Amino acid sequence: MRFDDKVVVVTGAAQGIGKAACRRFLEQGAKVAMWDMNGEKLSAAAKELDPNGERIMTVIVNVADRASVNELLICSQPAHLQKLQGSKLTAEERDAKRASLIRRRLGAQS
Ligand SMILES: NC(=O)c1ccc[n+]([C@@H]2O[C@H](COP(=O)([O-])OP(=O)(O)OC[C@H]3O[C@@H](n4cnc5c(N)ncnc54)[C@H](O)[C@@H]3O)[C@@H](O)[C@H]2O)c1
Repeated sequence: MRFDDKVVVVTGAAQGIGKAACRRFLEQGAKVAMWDMNGEKLSAAAKELDPNGERIMTVIVNVADRASVNELLICSQPAHLQKLQGSKLTAEERDAKRASLIRRRLGAQS
């Protein structure tokens, strides 16, 4: 299966099964957002898998911390993913999209 033009988020990505999954997704054409709580290992793994940093971005996060993950998903992920996807949106358009996403998320919670 090919993952060209797809962005894959992998948690626990700095080592073990997560890192192996990142390697496979890259081989299959994906761009990969590597999430892990261990910043040092994460950075080493990213350098090893994609020395030029063209198809990987790293995010240091404790996925057991619901608030951090929510914040990341609501506020940061669109910008991160757009960067990987090579979005042509302007900063203003991106902010508007993010605000709309936050409103939808907040609406969904109430
Ligand atoms: N290795 C196996 O044979 C095997 C088999 C079945 C299930 N599993 C399960 O799969 C998972 C991964 O296994 P592994 O061997 O690759 O583990 P590992 O310990 O080698 O790697 C786990 C990675 O997850 C990161 N991590 C741990 N808690 C985190 C958190 N709260 N937030 C963000 N990152 C976090 C660690 O920093 C580490 O980089 C584990 O839950 C394990 O129990 C492993």
